[in-house]
Amino acid sequence: MRIVLGVSGGIAAYKAAELARQLVRNGHDITVVLTKGAEEFIRPLTFASLTGRKVITDIFSSASPDATLSSAVEHIGVAQEHDLLLVAPATADVIGKFAHGLAGDFLSTLYLAFPGPVVLAPAMNNRMWEHAAVVANVAALRARGHVIVEPGEGYLACGTIGPGRLAENDKIVAAVKEVFRPKVTDLAGETILITAGPTREPIDPVRYISNRSSGKMGYALAEAALERGARVLLVSGPVNLTPPSGAEVDNVQTSQQMRDAVFARLPDATVVIKCAAVADFRPSNPSAQKIKKTAARISLELDPAPDILSELGQKRNGFLLIGFAAETENLREYARKKLESKNCDMIVANLVGGDESGFESDVNQVLLVLRNGENIPVEKAPKRQIADRILDQIAKLSPR
Ligand code: CTP
Repeated sequence: MRIVLGVSGGIAAYKAAELARQLVRNGHDITVVLTKGAEEFIRPLTFASLTGRKVITDIFSSASPDATLSSAVEHIGVAQEHDLLLVAPATADVIGKFAHGLAGDFLSTLYLAFPGPVVLAPAMNNRMWEHAAVVANVAALRARGHVIVEPGEGYLACGTIGPGRLAENDKIVAAVKEVFRPKVTDLAGETILITAGPTREPIDPVRYISNRSSGKMGYALAEAALERGARVLLVSGPVNLTPPSGAEVDNVQTSQQMRDAVFARLPDATVVIKCAAVADFRPSNPSAQKIKKTAARISLELDPAPDILSELGQKRNGFLLIGFAAETENLREYARKKLESKNCDMIVANLVGGDESGFESDVNQVLLVLRNGENIPVEKAPKRQIADRILDQIAKLSPR
C-alpha cells in the first residue's frame, strides 16, 4: 500500500524514522511529509534514505522563485496517489488544524485533499492531551471516522508522568494493518435496533433513580454493527459517549421514553438488541417540586417500570430478539430462564458485581445463551471485541 507518513514537530519525531523503516519492511511505499516543526528535530535526509523517496518538507517545497502550477498543486497529486494518511507523531497543533480544516502548510493542506483513511498517533505533554480543546478536537476527528492510536502513559520529555507518549511503533503498525484488513459486511441489509445505557426515573425535578450502566457495551455493538454493514438505530439513555458516526440516535431519559422510542423504531428493525440497563421500578408519584429536607424518615413508593424486552417478546413478528442479563450469581441458569420468559433468540449473560468487568468497565466477559440449547462462553476482552462475537452469532441466526 502507498502511505503518506506525516511527521510533526515533537520530541517523538525521531521515533518516526524507525516507524518508516518498519512500514517499508512490511512492503509499503512511504512518502514522508515533514512539518517545519519536525525539521527542527529530524533531518529530511534520514527519511529519504530510509524510504528511498523524496521527502516533502513544506507547502512550497518544490517551488523555485518561478513556481509552476504543478508544484503549487502537489498536495492534490500526493493525496490522490496514496491509500492512507498516517501522522506520527501528531502534535496538538496538527490535531487542531485537521479538526478545524485549517490549511497553512503542506500536511494540513494534504489532509483536506485526502480522500482515504486517516490514522493519527498523538504525542504531547499530558496536560495538553487532557486539555478540553485537544479532547474536543480528538473527538471531532474520531467522529469523522479517523483512527486515533491512543498515546501511552509514561515519562514524558518534559519530566512529568502521564498519558501523552507516542504509542509504540508496533501499535501504530497494527492500526495501519487493521485499516487495510478487508472488511466483513455480513450484516449488510440488517437494521439493528440497539438500546444502550441506563434510564433515569425522576423522584422530583432534581433527583432520579438510575444505575451504573455506562452505555459502553451498547455503543461498542453499534460501532461494530455499522462496520459490518448494518443500519443502526441507537436508542440511548444518558451516557458520556459519542455515538459512532452513521448511527441514527434517539436520546431518552426514562424507561417509558425508551419504550416509546423502541416501538416507534421497531417497524424498521430486523434485529433488536436490548443492551440498556432499564430501571425495574420507578417512583409512583414523582413530585412536581423539589422535595424539602425533613428530620423524619420518608419512604419512596415505587411501581414496576415497563419491561421493554418482555413486551418485545410478546410482539415478535420476524425480528431477531437479543436480551442481556445482568446477574450476580447462577449466571447460566438465570440467563436461560430469561431467554424463555422474555421469548428471546439469545441472551448475553453478564456476571456483574465484581470489579473487573460488567458495568463501567472497558472489558467484559459474557456467556451467550442460545435458544438451541448452546451456551457459548466469550473470554474476557475489550467490549468492542465482545461486540463482534455477539454479532457473529446474530449473523448466524439471521435468516437473511
Ligand atoms: N429490560 C427491559 N426493561 C426493563 C428491565 C429490563 O427491557 N424494565 C431488559 C434489559 O434491557 C435486558 C433484559 O431485560 O436486556 C434483562 O435485564 P435484567 O436487569 O438482567 O433482568 P430483569 O428482567 O430486570 O430481571 P431481574 O432484575 O429479576 O434479574
